[in-house]
Amino acid sequence: MATRIMGTGSAIPSRIVTNQELEGFLDTSDAWIQERTGIGSRHAATTETTTSLAAKACLKALEDAGKQPEEVDLILAATVSPDCTFPCLACEIQAAIGADHATAYDINAACAGFLFALNSADAYIRCGMYRNALIVGAEVLTKIVDWNDRSTCILFGDGAGAAFVQEAEEGVVDMVQGANGKKGMALYRFEARTNTPFSEVAAAMEETKDSGYLEMNGQEVFRFAVSQVPDSIQKVLERTGWEKSEVDHYILHQANARIIQSIARRLGELEEKFPMNLHQYGNMSSASIPVLLDELNRAGKLKRGEKIILSGFGAGLTYGATAVIW
Ligand code: COA
Repeated sequence: MATRIMGTGSAIPSRIVTNQELEGFLDTSDAWIQERTGIGSRHAATTETTTSLAAKACLKALEDAGKQPEEVDLILAATVSPDCTFPCLACEIQAAIGADHATAYDINAACAGFLFALNSADAYIRCGMYRNALIVGAEVLTKIVDWNDRSTCILFGDGAGAAFVQEAEEGVVDMVQGANGKKGMALYRFEARTNTPFSEVAAAMEETKDSGYLEMNGQEVFRFAVSQVPDSIQKVLERTGWEKSEVDHYILHQANARIIQSIARRLGELEEKFPMNLHQYGNMSSASIPVLLDELNRAGKLKRGEKIILSGFGAGLTYGATAVIW
């Protein structure tokens, strides 16, 4: 028994924000951003919400799989930028698409969220609790970054990607996943401050001038990604017994072209096996892997039987790699 990806979908806001547009209000340049990150533009939600993007991506994934919303057993939504803290995004999606029979809840594992959702769905399906799941990564990160902070805002964009998975003979083969909470403050965002008659936390946060925006130690995150991701990939390869030469595609979280190139070098693999779309979208956190997966799927670049490694990493710090037969 395994869990197979039967259909994919994605949704991206129509508004494009180019590096040149950022030059208009930030002390930055297209050349700096392209050289350090590989990012040329990102998309920003205007009328779209995390829920509307996620619901659209889910309906497309269901259509691709030839399934109806009422057939879905489980919805797992990965996000760090939901519209509401509660109800969760997955419940909002359930209502929006009419998946009335599905259990629904969120996973917060930041940029590794979609991967963790896939691994969780696989565990449920393998043990026989559910027969299928709709997994989705959706973000509107443009609302949680500080547009005056050139070291972070240039990196992120909005979008959603989804996959419908179900029990099958082959699909997910094995995975590794982990977390290092001790390094959590390398990439974080405090929840909005609340002043209560009792809380001393809000005052303490005020004193440290905590912004309420996403905060990041870029170099620490960079070092974490280029060491932890190759290690996770090596471990999952050992568990599956696959040779690197057998892997057809490495579909990695799209944070930064330099990170992906460095991972390819460390693995001794060809860069062309690492497709990228971050030039167009920037870092969409949990949405980046499923959006790329959907683009490759719809372009006919994934063939049934091919061997794929998915790998994500991000705030937490969380990381993982999953081996999948397409
Ligand atoms: N435009 C122009 N200059 C900028 C800039 C921008 N957008 N952002 C930062 N700088 C400046 C800094 O102020 C610094 O100037 P200084 O030398 O005068 O102090 C200089 O560029 C170098 O900054 P530094 O932070 O050392 O750059 P870097 O080479 O580490 O690149 C990142 C910065 C963020 C691109 C890089 O650290 C990175 O990609 N880290 C990983 C981040 C990530 O992927 N996070 C999400 C993971 S899920």
